[in-house]
Amino acid sequence: MKVINVAGVRPNFMKVAPLMEAYKKSNQIEPVLVHTGQHYDESMSGLFFHELDIPEPDINLEVGSASHAVQTAEIMKAFEPVVLEHKPDVVLVVGDVNSTIACGLVAVKLGIKLAHVEAGLRSFDRSMPEEINRILTDSISDLLLCTEQSGVVNLISEGVPEEDIFLVGNIMIDSLLKYIDKAKQSNILDRLNLNHSDFAILTLHRPANVDDPITFSRILDALEVIQRHIPIIFPIHPRTRKNLFASYLDRRVKRLPHLRLTHPLGYLDFLKLMSSARFVMTDSGGIQEETTVLRIPCLTLRENTEQPVTVEIGSNRIVGTETEKIIEACKQVTNGHSRNFQIPPLWDGHAAERIVKILLDRL
Ligand code: UD1
Repeated sequence: MKVINVAGVRPNFMKVAPLMEAYKKSNQIEPVLVHTGQHYDESMSGLFFHELDIPEPDINLEVGSASHAVQTAEIMKAFEPVVLEHKPDVVLVVGDVNSTIACGLVAVKLGIKLAHVEAGLRSFDRSMPEEINRILTDSISDLLLCTEQSGVVNLISEGVPEEDIFLVGNIMIDSLLKYIDKAKQSNILDRLNLNHSDFAILTLHRPANVDDPITFSRILDALEVIQRHIPIIFPIHPRTRKNLFASYLDRRVKRLPHLRLTHPLGYLDFLKLMSSARFVMTDSGGIQEETTVLRIPCLTLRENTEQPVTVEIGSNRIVGTETEKIIEACKQVTNGHSRNFQIPPLWDGHAAERIVKILLDRL
């Protein structure tokens, strides 16, 4: 069986890594790895291939950055000849980014089966580009592979036949569990001159937070107060950096001595940093899941989440972006946070093996 696997952005790479390994072990699948090039900086892409032992992509479409329409269209135009040449049995896409929907659409229009990993997740917020990508990708997929039960429920309520839906667990956690021991050896705490548990982490990149200077300023108002009590490490996403300078908010950040910006970090350094932090503030989806398994409190600076299981079990709180709410949540979390919760079912390091078995059984 020939499977084309698509990866395009930083959070896709830790999802294809365990799959590539599971294909190899199965000895029954010939994988082709396509990198769309949606992310292209060494720190957002190349480093992850190296650290996660992902084979070099067979094909790099090198589409780069552009508006949503142009980026999606360019990926489709570049991906179609690849599918025509390789004639796969299945195209497998992960996550919810423009590369996911673009390649999914090309596959189904050529009559190729489509498998979607992380199917069914919904924030129910259609202003998020990722929500549109999720809904569209799921609606054209033949195999819907879910990380948590909410995904199964959402897909059934949208009319997807139950026999096409599989709860396989969380493939991102496969990578986390495989690499956590190696990550513990990272010297990132020394490099940043930090003590265990004596700092918080911040990541921000959602358009709703960083493209709008008013929201971004509101978050900075909160950070100004919080950094007086605990240093905040802020590995900054390229989109966020660009907007910080464009809106002159970088001047404010410079006046906050304990809000420390770093370049985007590699996988192992970031895992080490997360697992050593007092708490994490983020608008990322994957970090809500990773902090759950690491049992580090997560404060989500959004009004919703597509990973509701993390909130239900109590590892994650939806805080929003109001200044006072962020400050209050940080106070509460530093005063104590229960780490005594059940990790969601099947977040056990074996999701990729389950996916390979389903591909072989079903297709
Ligand atoms: C994309 C995904 C988002 C995901 C995120 C992870 C979509 C719609 N969004 O958002 O769901 O959570 O990736 O990071 O697919 N840039 C660089 N170097 C890079 C990549 C990007 O400088 O290697 C800059 C470019 O200026 C670009 C901007 O970042 O314009 C945004 O990049 P893009 O990939 O379009 O979207 P993300 O914001 O990263």
